[in-house]
Amino acid sequence: MNAKITATAHYVPERIMTNLELEKLVDTSDEWIRSRTGISQRHIVAENEASSDLSTRVAEQLLAKRGISAEDIDLIIIATVTPDHFTPSTAALVQLNIGAKNAWGFDLSGACSGFLYGLETGSKFISSGHYQKVMVIGVDTMSSILDFTDRNTCVLFGDGAGGVILEPTDSDNGIIDSILKMDGSGGQYLHVPGGGSRMPATIESVEAKQHYIMQDGKKVFKFAVKGMADVSERILKRNNLTGDDIALFIPHQANKRIIDASAERCKISPEKVLINIDRFGNTTAGTIPIGMNEAVENGQIKDGDTILLASFGAGFTWGSILIKWESN
Ligand code: ACO
Repeated sequence: MNAKITATAHYVPERIMTNLELEKLVDTSDEWIRSRTGISQRHIVAENEASSDLSTRVAEQLLAKRGISAEDIDLIIIATVTPDHFTPSTAALVQLNIGAKNAWGFDLSGACSGFLYGLETGSKFISSGHYQKVMVIGVDTMSSILDFTDRNTCVLFGDGAGGVILEPTDSDNGIIDSILKMDGSGGQYLHVPGGGSRMPATIESVEAKQHYIMQDGKKVFKFAVKGMADVSERILKRNNLTGDDIALFIPHQANKRIIDASAERCKISPEKVLINIDRFGNTTAGTIPIGMNEAVENGQIKDGDTILLASFGAGFTWGSILIKWESN
Protein backbone atom coordinates (compact mmCIF):
# COMPACT_ATOMS: atom_id res chain seq x y z
CA MET A 1 0.00 0.00 0.00
CA ASN A 2 1.49 3.35 -1.06
CA ALA A 3 1.41 6.53 1.00
CA LYS A 4 0.22 9.76 -0.60
CA ILE A 5 0.64 13.36 0.49
CA THR A 6 -2.77 14.82 1.32
CA ALA A 7 -1.70 18.19 2.76
CA THR A 8 1.39 20.42 2.65
CA ALA A 9 2.32 23.51 4.69
CA HIS A 10 5.29 25.63 5.62
CA TYR A 11 6.24 28.39 8.02
CA VAL A 12 9.24 30.67 8.19
CA PRO A 13 9.94 33.22 10.94
CA GLU A 14 8.96 36.81 10.25
CA ARG A 15 12.39 38.35 10.56
CA ILE A 16 14.37 38.57 7.31
CA MET A 17 18.16 38.88 7.38
CA THR A 18 19.58 40.22 4.12
CA ASN A 19 23.07 39.75 2.71
CA LEU A 20 23.66 43.44 3.44
CA GLU A 21 23.14 42.77 7.16
CA LEU A 22 25.71 39.98 6.99
CA GLU A 23 28.18 42.39 5.38
CA LYS A 24 28.13 44.22 8.71
CA LEU A 25 28.90 41.05 10.69
CA VAL A 26 31.61 39.32 8.62
CA ASP A 27 33.99 40.06 5.77
CA THR A 28 31.62 39.17 2.93
CA SER A 29 29.56 40.89 0.26
CA ASP A 30 26.09 40.64 -1.20
CA GLU A 31 27.74 40.03 -4.57
CA TRP A 32 29.87 37.10 -3.26
CA ILE A 33 26.93 35.41 -1.52
CA ARG A 34 24.58 35.78 -4.49
CA SER A 35 27.09 34.65 -7.12
CA ARG A 36 28.56 31.71 -5.13
CA THR A 37 25.35 30.42 -3.53
CA GLY A 38 22.26 32.07 -5.06
CA ILE A 39 21.13 33.37 -1.64
CA SER A 40 19.79 36.94 -1.23
CA GLN A 41 18.16 36.67 2.18
CA ARG A 42 17.11 34.19 4.86
CA HIS A 43 14.57 34.15 7.72
CA ILE A 44 15.81 34.08 11.31
CA VAL A 45 13.82 33.21 14.44
CA ALA A 46 12.86 35.79 17.04
CA GLU A 47 14.29 35.56 20.54
CA ASN A 48 12.71 32.60 22.34
CA GLU A 49 11.42 31.08 19.09
CA ALA A 50 12.60 27.49 18.51
CA SER A 51 12.08 24.52 16.21
CA SER A 52 8.94 23.31 17.99
CA ASP A 53 7.32 26.74 17.50
CA LEU A 54 7.96 26.68 13.75
CA SER A 55 6.80 23.05 13.59
CA THR A 56 3.62 23.79 15.55
CA ARG A 57 2.68 26.51 13.01
CA VAL A 58 3.18 23.97 10.23
CA ALA A 59 1.22 21.27 12.08
CA GLU A 60 -1.73 23.63 12.68
CA GLN A 61 -1.83 24.59 9.01
CA LEU A 62 -1.66 20.95 7.95
CA LEU A 63 -4.69 20.08 10.09
CA ALA A 64 -6.65 23.08 8.81
CA LYS A 65 -5.81 22.38 5.17
CA ARG A 66 -6.75 18.70 5.45
CA GLY A 67 -9.83 19.55 7.50
CA ILE A 68 -9.09 17.06 10.27
CA SER A 69 -8.59 17.32 14.01
CA ALA A 70 -5.32 16.80 15.88
CA GLU A 71 -6.83 13.68 17.43
CA ASP A 72 -6.89 12.05 13.98
CA ILE A 73 -3.08 12.05 13.80
CA ASP A 74 -1.49 8.66 14.59
CA LEU A 75 2.20 9.54 14.35
CA ILE A 76 4.36 12.68 14.31
CA ILE A 77 7.85 12.48 12.81
CA ILE A 78 10.02 15.59 13.10
CA ALA A 79 13.24 15.68 11.08
CA THR A 80 15.66 18.12 12.66
CA VAL A 81 19.26 18.62 13.78
CA THR A 82 18.25 21.60 15.89
CA PRO A 83 15.67 20.24 18.35
CA ASP A 84 14.54 22.51 21.19
CA HIS A 85 16.22 20.10 23.65
CA PHE A 86 17.97 16.73 23.72
CA THR A 87 14.84 15.60 25.51
CA PRO A 88 11.86 15.88 25.35
CA SER A 89 11.70 15.43 21.60
CA THR A 90 10.41 18.18 19.34
CA ALA A 91 7.71 15.71 18.30
CA ALA A 92 6.49 15.51 21.92
CA LEU A 93 6.35 19.32 22.15
CA VAL A 94 4.36 19.55 18.92
CA GLN A 95 2.06 16.74 20.06
CA LEU A 96 1.31 18.75 23.20
CA ASN A 97 0.95 22.08 21.40
CA ILE A 98 -1.60 20.83 18.89
CA GLY A 99 -3.34 18.37 21.25
CA ALA A 100 -2.65 15.24 19.20
CA LYS A 101 -3.85 12.99 22.01
CA ASN A 102 -3.76 9.79 20.00
CA ALA A 103 -0.33 10.26 18.44
CA TRP A 104 3.10 9.00 19.33
CA GLY A 105 6.20 10.20 17.58
CA PHE A 106 9.90 10.90 17.51
CA ASP A 107 12.62 13.16 16.16
CA LEU A 108 14.83 11.93 13.37
CA SER A 109 18.32 13.22 12.58
CA GLY A 110 19.19 13.21 8.88
CA ALA A 111 20.45 16.79 8.48
CA CYS A 112 19.62 18.16 5.02
CA SER A 113 18.24 14.74 4.04
CA GLY A 114 16.10 14.64 7.18
CA PHE A 115 12.84 15.32 5.40
CA LEU A 116 13.45 12.55 2.86
CA TYR A 117 14.42 10.15 5.66
CA GLY A 118 11.21 11.18 7.45
CA LEU A 119 9.08 10.79 4.33
CA GLU A 120 10.45 7.29 3.73
CA THR A 121 9.93 6.34 7.39
CA GLY A 122 6.40 7.78 7.47
CA SER A 123 5.44 6.11 4.21
CA LYS A 124 6.54 2.71 5.54
CA PHE A 125 4.35 3.18 8.63
CA ILE A 126 1.46 3.83 6.23
CA SER A 127 2.38 0.79 4.10
CA SER A 128 2.25 -1.38 7.22
CA GLY A 129 -1.49 -0.81 7.26
CA HIS A 130 -1.43 0.13 10.95
CA TYR A 131 -1.32 3.89 10.48
CA GLN A 132 -3.81 6.11 8.68
CA LYS A 133 -2.48 9.63 9.20
CA VAL A 134 1.20 10.43 9.68
CA MET A 135 2.56 13.96 10.01
CA VAL A 136 6.12 14.46 8.74
CA ILE A 137 7.76 17.83 9.42
CA GLY A 138 11.24 19.01 8.42
CA VAL A 139 12.43 21.89 10.57
CA ASP A 140 15.69 23.58 11.45
CA THR A 141 16.61 26.63 13.43
CA MET A 142 20.10 26.79 11.99
CA SER A 143 20.71 30.22 13.53
CA SER A 144 20.96 28.43 16.91
CA ILE A 145 24.14 26.60 15.80
CA LEU A 146 25.64 29.28 13.54
CA ASP A 147 28.73 31.28 14.41
CA PHE A 148 27.90 34.73 13.09
CA THR A 149 31.61 35.53 12.98
CA ASP A 150 32.40 32.62 10.60
CA ARG A 151 31.77 33.64 7.00
CA ASN A 152 32.24 30.05 5.81
CA THR A 153 28.94 29.03 7.36
CA CYS A 154 26.83 31.97 8.56
CA VAL A 155 25.97 33.23 5.08
CA LEU A 156 24.54 29.89 3.94
CA PHE A 157 21.74 29.00 6.33
CA GLY A 158 18.29 30.17 7.43
CA ASP A 159 15.49 29.02 9.75
CA GLY A 160 12.25 27.41 8.56
CA ALA A 161 9.90 24.44 8.58
CA GLY A 162 7.63 22.56 6.22
CA GLY A 163 5.62 19.40 6.42
CA VAL A 164 3.07 17.01 5.00
CA ILE A 165 0.32 14.63 6.04
CA LEU A 166 0.71 11.10 4.67
CA GLU A 167 -2.28 8.81 4.17
CA PRO A 168 -2.80 5.46 2.40
CA THR A 169 -3.92 5.22 -1.21
CA ASP A 170 -5.45 2.22 -3.00
CA SER A 171 -3.88 3.32 -6.28
CA ASP A 172 -0.31 2.92 -7.53
CA ASN A 173 0.27 6.63 -6.99
CA GLY A 174 1.80 8.51 -4.07
CA ILE A 175 5.37 7.78 -3.00
CA ILE A 176 6.44 5.26 -5.60
CA ASP A 177 10.17 4.84 -5.07
CA SER A 178 13.07 5.96 -2.91
CA ILE A 179 16.85 5.65 -2.71
CA LEU A 180 18.37 6.74 0.58
CA LYS A 181 22.09 6.70 1.35
CA MET A 182 24.56 7.41 4.13
CA ASP A 183 28.36 7.50 4.32
CA GLY A 184 29.72 8.26 7.78
CA SER A 185 33.21 8.90 6.44
CA GLY A 186 31.90 12.33 5.38
CA GLY A 187 31.00 13.28 8.95
CA GLN A 188 34.24 15.15 9.52
CA TYR A 189 33.52 17.65 6.73
CA LEU A 190 30.31 19.06 8.18
CA HIS A 191 29.71 18.73 11.89
CA VAL A 192 28.96 20.24 15.29
CA PRO A 193 31.81 18.93 17.47
CA GLY A 194 30.60 19.90 20.95
CA GLY A 195 27.52 19.78 23.10
CA GLY A 196 26.84 16.03 22.76
CA SER A 197 28.08 13.04 24.75
CA ARG A 198 31.48 13.11 22.97
CA MET A 199 32.20 16.61 24.21
CA PRO A 200 29.62 17.72 26.78
CA ALA A 201 29.29 21.50 27.00
CA THR A 202 31.81 23.13 29.31
CA ILE A 203 32.87 26.73 29.65
CA GLU A 204 35.98 25.85 27.61
CA SER A 205 34.06 24.09 24.82
CA VAL A 206 31.63 26.97 24.50
CA GLU A 207 34.43 29.53 24.50
CA ALA A 208 36.12 27.51 21.76
CA LYS A 209 32.85 27.69 19.76
CA GLN A 210 32.60 23.90 19.57
CA HIS A 211 28.80 23.97 19.61
CA TYR A 212 28.62 25.72 16.23
CA ILE A 213 28.40 24.04 12.84
CA MET A 214 31.70 23.77 10.99
CA GLN A 215 32.37 22.65 7.46
CA ASP A 216 34.82 22.16 4.66
CA GLY A 217 32.61 23.78 2.04
CA LYS A 218 34.59 22.64 -0.98
CA LYS A 219 34.51 18.95 0.05
CA VAL A 220 30.79 19.13 0.84
CA PHE A 221 30.14 20.82 -2.50
CA LYS A 222 31.89 18.09 -4.48
CA PHE A 223 30.15 15.23 -2.68
CA ALA A 224 26.78 16.99 -2.86
CA VAL A 225 26.84 17.42 -6.63
CA LYS A 226 27.86 13.80 -7.20
CA GLY A 227 25.57 12.31 -4.53
CA MET A 228 22.40 14.15 -5.51
CA ALA A 229 22.92 13.63 -9.23
CA ASP A 230 23.78 9.91 -8.85
CA VAL A 231 20.67 8.94 -6.90
CA SER A 232 18.40 11.13 -9.03
CA GLU A 233 19.71 9.56 -12.23
CA ARG A 234 19.39 6.06 -10.75
CA ILE A 235 15.81 6.48 -9.54
CA LEU A 236 14.74 7.83 -12.94
CA LYS A 237 16.45 4.99 -14.79
CA ARG A 238 15.00 2.20 -12.68
CA ASN A 239 11.51 3.64 -13.15
CA ASN A 240 12.03 3.94 -16.94
CA LEU A 241 11.75 7.72 -16.77
CA THR A 242 13.83 10.56 -18.19
CA GLY A 243 14.12 14.16 -17.10
CA ASP A 244 11.35 15.00 -19.60
CA ASP A 245 8.86 12.92 -17.59
CA ILE A 246 9.45 14.99 -14.44
CA ALA A 247 6.89 17.76 -13.90
CA LEU A 248 8.88 19.30 -11.05
CA PHE A 249 12.27 18.64 -9.48
CA ILE A 250 12.42 19.75 -5.84
CA PRO A 251 16.05 19.56 -4.74
CA HIS A 252 17.51 20.44 -1.36
CA GLN A 253 18.45 24.12 -1.41
CA ALA A 254 22.09 24.32 -0.32
CA ASN A 255 23.66 26.13 -3.22
CA LYS A 256 22.19 27.12 -6.58
CA ARG A 257 25.26 25.73 -8.32
CA ILE A 258 24.72 22.28 -6.72
CA ILE A 259 21.07 22.35 -7.86
CA ASP A 260 21.93 23.40 -11.43
CA ALA A 261 24.59 20.68 -11.74
CA SER A 262 22.20 17.95 -10.49
CA ALA A 263 19.38 19.07 -12.80
CA GLU A 264 21.75 19.17 -15.75
CA ARG A 265 23.00 15.60 -15.08
CA CYS A 266 19.36 14.38 -15.02
CA LYS A 267 18.50 16.43 -18.13
CA ILE A 268 15.71 18.26 -16.33
CA SER A 269 15.08 21.63 -17.96
CA PRO A 270 15.56 24.68 -15.71
CA GLU A 271 11.89 25.75 -15.70
CA LYS A 272 11.03 22.42 -14.01
CA VAL A 273 13.49 22.97 -11.15
CA LEU A 274 12.15 24.51 -7.95
CA ILE A 275 14.47 27.20 -6.62
CA ASN A 276 13.72 29.29 -3.55
CA ILE A 277 17.21 29.41 -2.01
CA ASP A 278 17.33 33.11 -2.92
CA ARG A 279 14.61 33.85 -0.32
CA PHE A 280 15.24 31.25 2.40
CA GLY A 281 18.88 30.12 2.22
CA ASN A 282 19.57 26.58 3.38
CA THR A 283 16.99 25.65 6.03
CA THR A 284 18.44 22.09 6.25
CA ALA A 285 15.48 19.68 6.83
CA GLY A 286 13.10 22.51 5.94
CA THR A 287 14.09 23.16 2.33
CA ILE A 288 12.23 20.39 0.49
CA PRO A 289 8.86 20.62 2.31
CA ILE A 290 8.95 24.42 2.11
CA GLY A 291 9.54 24.17 -1.64
CA MET A 292 6.86 21.49 -2.01
CA ASN A 293 4.24 23.60 -0.26
CA GLU A 294 5.09 26.68 -2.31
CA ALA A 295 4.76 24.61 -5.49
CA VAL A 296 1.38 23.20 -4.40
CA GLU A 297 0.09 26.66 -3.46
CA ASN A 298 1.34 28.15 -6.78
CA GLY A 299 -0.35 25.43 -8.80
CA GLN A 300 3.01 24.04 -9.97
CA ILE A 301 2.02 20.55 -8.81
CA LYS A 302 -1.13 18.85 -10.09
CA ASP A 303 -2.58 15.39 -9.60
CA GLY A 304 -0.90 12.94 -11.96
CA ASP A 305 2.42 14.84 -12.01
CA THR A 306 5.66 12.95 -11.43
CA ILE A 307 7.74 14.81 -8.84
CA LEU A 308 11.38 14.13 -8.05
CA LEU A 309 12.86 15.08 -4.65
CA ALA A 310 16.61 14.97 -3.96
CA SER A 311 18.82 15.90 -1.04
CA PHE A 312 22.35 15.88 0.29
CA GLY A 313 23.57 16.76 3.77
CA ALA A 314 25.74 16.20 6.81
CA GLY A 315 26.59 12.61 7.68
CA PHE A 316 26.98 12.41 4.74
CA THR A 317 23.34 11.62 3.98
CA TRP A 318 21.65 11.80 0.61
CA GLY A 319 18.75 10.42 -1.33
CA SER A 320 15.95 10.82 -3.81
CA ILE A 321 12.23 10.08 -3.72
CA LEU A 322 9.82 9.78 -6.61
CA ILE A 323 6.18 10.75 -6.20
CA LYS A 324 3.22 10.31 -8.53
CA TRP A 325 1.13 13.11 -7.10
CA GLU A 326 -2.35 12.24 -5.84
CA SER A 327 -3.71 14.65 -3.28
CA ASN A 328 -7.16 13.23 -2.51
N1 ACO B 1 32.26 35.87 1.73
C1 ACO B 1 33.32 36.24 1.00
N2 ACO B 1 34.32 35.42 0.71
C2 ACO B 1 34.25 34.17 1.17
C3 ACO B 1 33.18 33.71 1.94
C4 ACO B 1 32.14 34.62 2.22
N3 ACO B 1 31.07 34.29 2.94
N4 ACO B 1 33.40 32.41 2.25
C5 ACO B 1 34.55 32.06 1.69
N5 ACO B 1 35.08 33.12 1.04
C6 ACO B 1 36.33 33.20 0.29
C7 ACO B 1 37.28 32.09 0.63
O1 ACO B 1 38.03 32.41 1.78
C8 ACO B 1 38.13 32.01 -0.62
O2 ACO B 1 39.10 33.03 -0.57
P1 ACO B 1 40.59 32.75 -1.10
O3 ACO B 1 40.43 32.41 -2.55
O4 ACO B 1 41.25 34.05 -0.85
O5 ACO B 1 41.08 31.60 -0.28
C9 ACO B 1 37.15 32.36 -1.73
O6 ACO B 1 36.04 33.03 -1.09
C10 ACO B 1 36.63 31.14 -2.46
O7 ACO B 1 36.24 30.19 -1.49
P2 ACO B 1 35.74 28.79 -1.91
O8 ACO B 1 35.53 27.95 -0.70
O9 ACO B 1 36.59 28.28 -3.02
O10 ACO B 1 34.32 29.18 -2.52
P3 ACO B 1 33.35 28.23 -3.25
O11 ACO B 1 33.08 28.72 -4.59
O12 ACO B 1 33.71 26.78 -3.06
O13 ACO B 1 32.02 28.47 -2.40
C11 ACO B 1 30.70 27.56 -0.62
C12 ACO B 1 32.01 28.21 -1.02
C13 ACO B 1 29.55 28.49 -0.97
C14 ACO B 1 30.70 27.26 0.87
C15 ACO B 1 30.54 26.24 -1.42
O14 ACO B 1 31.71 25.47 -1.32
C16 ACO B 1 29.38 25.43 -0.96
O15 ACO B 1 28.24 25.81 -1.13
N6 ACO B 1 29.62 24.26 -0.42
C17 ACO B 1 28.56 23.41 0.04
C18 ACO B 1 28.42 23.66 1.51
C19 ACO B 1 27.01 23.55 2.01
O16 ACO B 1 26.05 23.85 1.35
N7 ACO B 1 26.89 23.11 3.24
C20 ACO B 1 25.63 23.12 3.85
C21 ACO B 1 25.16 21.89 4.41
S1 ACO B 1 25.32 20.55 3.40
C22 ACO B 1 24.24 20.73 2.27
O17 ACO B 1 23.22 21.29 2.53
C23 ACO B 1 24.59 20.24 0.94
